[in-house]
Amino acid sequence: MKQQLHAVRGMNDVVPPVTSRWQALEGRVRAVLARYGYREIRLPIVENTGVFERSIGDATDIVQKEMYTFADRNGDSLSLRPEGTAGCVRAALENGLLQQPAQRLWYQGPMFRHERPQKGRYRQFHQIGVEAYGLPGPDIDAELILMTARIWRELGLQGLRLEVNTLGSAAEREAYRDSLHAYFTLHLDRLDEDSKVRLARNPLRILDSKNPDLKPIIADAPRPSEFLAAESLAHFKFVCDALTAGGVAYRINPHLVRGLDYYARTVFEWITATLGAQGTVCAGGRYDGLIELMGGRPTPAIGFAMGLERLLELLEQQAGTGETAEAELYVISAGDDYAIDALVLAERLRDDFPQACTVCHCGGGSLKAQLKRADRAGALAALIIGTDEHATGTVTLKPLRGQADQSRVTQGDLAAALAPILGSQRC
Ligand code: HAM
Repeated sequence: MKQQLHAVRGMNDVVPPVTSRWQALEGRVRAVLARYGYREIRLPIVENTGVFERSIGDATDIVQKEMYTFADRNGDSLSLRPEGTAGCVRAALENGLLQQPAQRLWYQGPMFRHERPQKGRYRQFHQIGVEAYGLPGPDIDAELILMTARIWRELGLQGLRLEVNTLGSAAEREAYRDSLHAYFTLHLDRLDEDSKVRLARNPLRILDSKNPDLKPIIADAPRPSEFLAAESLAHFKFVCDALTAGGVAYRINPHLVRGLDYYARTVFEWITATLGAQGTVCAGGRYDGLIELMGGRPTPAIGFAMGLERLLELLEQQAGTGETAEAELYVISAGDDYAIDALVLAERLRDDFPQACTVCHCGGGSLKAQLKRADRAGALAALIIGTDEHATGTVTLKPLRGQADQSRVTQGDLAAALAPILGSQRC
């Protein structure tokens, strides 16, 4: 017997009917982004490895441990994208998009990280990400966060908590980093192995440690605010004031540092308590130095990405699956002789009800079996054509939900008879 083939661990198929939940989520998020003037950019899934090393940072977990990196047939080092920001900057530079004073872009698609898979953490996961280029002021920081809050409202999501922080300008961040290095070096004997590695690579990441034993030293560590000059303080104050004015509650978390090296100034995360350890559904921040680091002119930039798997899980917890039916109208031929009548009728129904999902049975079978299939597909009504219907130019209309009886309808009256059954439901 041949051995069965399996998907790669941590990489999941999305199959019907669950696909309809993805489509609904993606559609609703995209609609909000469009209302704020964001336009789609489509990026390759694979980039030269240097694109990620230079941007995300050589010393980060993502680059050190999690990238799917391989040599292609020419021996070039390529990587599956672990996130979208680096590729988006590369593409914006390469396509001259940064010559415009401001660019608002969004992308969506799979990202790849070789992490230990668990609920909410996958090796292939999906993000919708947003990047805004060329806007230096705190107004765009605030607008981005207000936009995420609107997305949660429009999705009907509750209980998401916003954490914000500022890492200061690149120079301030460096000074902060040095002071953290000095502080944690003083407490070296109390650090765990993981934190010792982080100390050497990027001491800011120790603040992210989940080890409860480290909590007291982390609590006493220097805070970024101690290193901020007036300009950075004013920038952050504007963001906080705008959130308050916009009715978005937040908490300043001085230890929010993010796991990618490119951030400076505003950073934020939206977190839920109901998804366990993988509770961050959306995260981002400002990365003013990255475009220059990647070979462009100094250009301010900010963005975020949301994890679709986590949002879908949360939506399911709060609003049910919302899966749409496989069919609304189901066309049946009672006998093989009427298969063509059924196909033609289904075409006419698609003309009359362009928003409805009409499935023609196809494949034959007894009337009983076809009706069973229609029911299982979740259809609102079955439309049957057999000998009598063919002879008289009629259709048998059998409502499948509710109390209404089956009736015989002329083809001319069919649209009027179906309208109340279809109502506002559309798949
Ligand atoms: P990130 O925090 O690495 O940021 O990822 C953003 C979101 O992607 C997370 O909050 C989470 O919802 C989701 N996510 C990340 N890793 C996984 C995983 N292994 N499985 C499932 N979901 C995951 C970025 O990627 C930045 N590029 C965001 C950004 C855009 N910053 C500025 N612009």
